[in-house]
Amino acid sequence: MKYTIKDIAKLAGVSTATVSKVINQKDQEITEATRNKVMAVVKRYHYVPNRIASSMVTKKTHTIGLIIPDISNPFFPELARGVEDYANRLGFTVFLCNTDNDVQKERAYMEKLQEKMVDGIILTASDNRKRVTPSLQKTSIPIVTVDRGVDADISDGNVESNNFIGAYEAVSYLFSKGLKHVLHLSGPLHSKPSNERLEGYKKALVDHYRHVNQDMIMDGSYTLDWGYSGTLKAMSNRLKFDSIFCGNDLIAFGAIQALKTKGLSVPNDISVIGFDDIELAKIIDPPLTTVKQPNYQMGFESSRILIDIIQQKTPDITEITLDTQLIIRHSVK
Ligand code: RIB
Repeated sequence: MKYTIKDIAKLAGVSTATVSKVINQKDQEITEATRNKVMAVVKRYHYVPNRIASSMVTKKTHTIGLIIPDISNPFFPELARGVEDYANRLGFTVFLCNTDNDVQKERAYMEKLQEKMVDGIILTASDNRKRVTPSLQKTSIPIVTVDRGVDADISDGNVESNNFIGAYEAVSYLFSKGLKHVLHLSGPLHSKPSNERLEGYKKALVDHYRHVNQDMIMDGSYTLDWGYSGTLKAMSNRLKFDSIFCGNDLIAFGAIQALKTKGLSVPNDISVIGFDDIELAKIIDPPLTTVKQPNYQMGFESSRILIDIIQQKTPDITEITLDTQLIIRHSVK
């Protein structure tokens, strides 16, 4: 038998409002004795609140959607953990959606999550769009973007890392080690982080009196395959490079694999630097010098901003840029 809130109230000898306050821990006025009496009945009869029914009244479901572009990329699970840790602490459930960088899937998830009456959405935009915003319409619920911002008029907040400075410091480090010809294997240039890293790369060249050679900038995807094929393409194009600044760690792993395939040593022949500092970066051969992004904190802060907005608490700030950190290991000589 499925017990309703009315059954529980009758069995406990209290009103349905009292049962609701005890379950939702809403009212500090409830005496300990009443709370214990109600909870004893709830446990004995395995009562599970009907959230859909209560949400019809409160218009809140205590759920949020998290849309990420690539669950297979180790950068995102840690970001998702940050979102969930904060949300669960505040009593919210997180629905995780993976778009495989497909704008159509992203649009479908945006609609489906609103049909499911989530209270808000955290979004990392898929990167295979020609422009960042067309798939997003302003929604009736708050949206906070994380990692890959979109036009501010669509999102209610944004958390990202300082891609420009991270890239600038990475490429400046290569120059500090005596390297002179830096190939840049970028992520997709219509994604905001890729563009910001490219600008940091260019600024580092200019500040170190190096010419910006467009042939030495090759854009692809945030994948191992692109790192591998992009490196082989640069070599077949007879580009002269002594180091590679990669748009993320997966690109760097692919580049190292390609260089080894061609009999080249990393870092003795070619130095390689990545971006993200995913777990694998420290155990590959050679351990990767890279730029650490605070992905857990990015997720945690985006969740905090969104839930503040949902709970009508005006967040102190809604646009956060977090520092990156250069992690020096053994892939740069
Ligand atoms: O590795 C995936 C990349 O896409 C990361 O650098 C992150 O910034 C995301 O945009």
